[in-house]
This record gives sequence, structure tokens and C-alpha cells, in this order.
Amino acid sequence: MIEAQNLVKRYGSMTAVDDLSFSIRPGMVTGFLGPNGAGKTTTMRMILGLDAPTQGSVTVAGRSYRDLPAPMREVGALLDAQALQGGRRAYDHLLCLAASNGIPASRVNEVLGMVGLEGVADRRAKGFSLGMSQRLGIASALLGDPQVLIFDEPVNGLDPDGIHWIRTLIRALAGDGRTVLVSSHLMSEMALTADHLLVIGKGRLIADMSVDEFVRSSSQHSVHVHSPQAAELADRCREAGAEVRQGSAPELIEIIRMDSADVGKLAAAHGIVLFELTPVRASLEEAFMELTRGSVEYQATEISR
Ligand SMILES: Nc1ncnc2c1ncn2[C@@H]1O[C@H](COP(=O)(O)OP(=O)(O)O)[C@@H](O)[C@H]1O
Ligand SMILES: [Mg+2]
Repeated sequence: MIEAQNLVKRYGSMTAVDDLSFSIRPGMVTGFLGPNGAGKTTTMRMILGLDAPTQGSVTVAGRSYRDLPAPMREVGALLDAQALQGGRRAYDHLLCLAASNGIPASRVNEVLGMVGLEGVADRRAKGFSLGMSQRLGIASALLGDPQVLIFDEPVNGLDPDGIHWIRTLIRALAGDGRTVLVSSHLMSEMALTADHLLVIGKGRLIADMSVDEFVRSSSQHSVHVHSPQAAELADRCREAGAEVRQGSAPELIEIIRMDSADVGKLAAAHGIVLFELTPVRASLEEAFMELTRGSVEYQATEISR
């Protein structure tokens, strides 16, 4: 369990994390989702005691990170996979961590096996690919067999095999009953990995809901219509309370807030010919963009055609 209460982090006049309160529960994957610059890494650093909150507090298993008697046995984290001492062999890197945290040396080979690095245990981390560094970072996180795991954008820069491997591992860790917090700026990624979502934008909480709820509540529906009488149909739909957007040609329109059956009935009632009537579901990515609109740090202005 990770609990934050009114967590705030300011850098000068800039507020990176703005009054966040949440509980991250065990036995599931919680996706921490937000556009770049939303405050995900800063929040994770505060959970791990790497940054001090300006206000508020955050606890892991009921204690602040600094008060945990054996932190690596309570929380494992992968923040920046490239931030290791490159000169050390993978095995030695893990052995050092184990020794300084009261973890038996036998655990080193166990975690090397879990992440598939047994074959390169004697190689220096300096020559590791991003995928291998990521695996080594995950091995460190798992070393203390902690109940709480935190991964910051773990699939960034990985190839499809690596992505699949991390997803499977994350799901298995939650399946064991652990508390797993994973950040991403991609909704499509979270939809495949997470059970629950914590969505933030500009440091503020935007949504705290299950992935199912998100899919049901925010994917906007519209109806795509091709008709030689599109203008007339548009008028009838507007009269009935729908919103209508003009498509890329005069005969194409997009109808919002009316389902395809009602559009079809309305067309029939007015003798309007339809060439095409298609219900369109917004993608999760579009729903996420809609949700976080206005909380993106740098937004490109739409180019009008
Ligand atoms: N050490 C720092 N000093 C000043 N600003 C920072 C620092 N760390 C992060 N920020 C700012 O805080 C905001 C949130 O950053 P971050 O937590 O890294 O976002 P995310 O991980 O969601 O992309 C950004 O605007 C970032 O520039
Ligand atoms: Mg980040």
C-alpha cells in the first residue's frame, strides 16, 4: 500500500506536484498516467524519499520511506535504468546492493535468473544495451523481494520483446499480491498492463478509476455518415440535440451525442438517403488526450486546413 496525502512539490515558482492524494492498493497494477511533465517522476521520487515534499506526506506500508528499517525489502524501484555504475559487473553490482542491505548473496543469482541475465552476469554494465540495463535495474528492484514495486516508464526505448517481457513480469508481480505502480505517458500501454489508473496533468489529479471505468466513461462515440443529403440530415440531427461536424467533403458528416440507430431512424423519417452509417469509437489514446486537454505542458496549436 502506498498512500499520499495532499502531496505538493514546488521548484521555485513552478509547482510540479499539486495537492495529490491517493492510495495505491496491493494485488493489482496501478497505472500512473500523464503527459510528459505532468509530475509522475517527481511523485515517485517523493515516494522513495529521493525528494522531500514541499507539503503533505507519502507513506509506504504506513511509514515514510526514510523510516523504513530495511527499505529494499519493502520497496523496489526502477527509475532511471541508465543510472548505474557502469564499471561494475552485473553480478558484483547486485552483490554490493545485497550486502549493504542485509540480503543473502544467494538471492543475486535468483534475481539474475528472473530477469534472464545469468549469461551476462560477469559482463560490465557499461556495455549493456538499454534493454539489458532495464533488466538489471529490475533485478535490483526485486533483490529484497519487496511487496511494493515502482517502475517509472519501464517500456521506454525497448523493443517489442522487451516490452512484452516487462508487461508479463509486472502482471505476475501484481498477481502475487504485490503493490505495483507503473508510470507511462501512453494510454495504449496502460490499457494493456494496468487494472487501475491514476491520471495526472500539471501535477493535479485528473482521474482515479479502474481501466474498465475509464474505457466506459471516456471513450466518446460518434456516427460517421455519408449521404447525398448530408446538410439536411445535419439540420435534423441538430434539431434533435446532437452536435454535427462537417467532414472532409460536403457529403460527409460526423454526428456526436446520438447513436447510429437514432440517426438511421431520423433519416428514414425524413426520407433521407444514406450511403454509409458507421458508429465510431474514439481510441483510448484520444480519450486520454481529451481528459488531459489543457494540462499538457507544451501544446501544438492545431493547424487549420
Ligand atoms: N529538479 C527539478 N528542478 C526544477 N524543475 C523540475 C525538477 N524536476 C522536475 N521539474 C519539473 O517538474 C515538472 C514535472 O516533471 P516530472 O515529474 O519529471 O514529470 P513527468 O515524469 O510526468 O514527465 C516538469 O515541468 C519538470 O520540468
Ligand atoms: Mg518522468
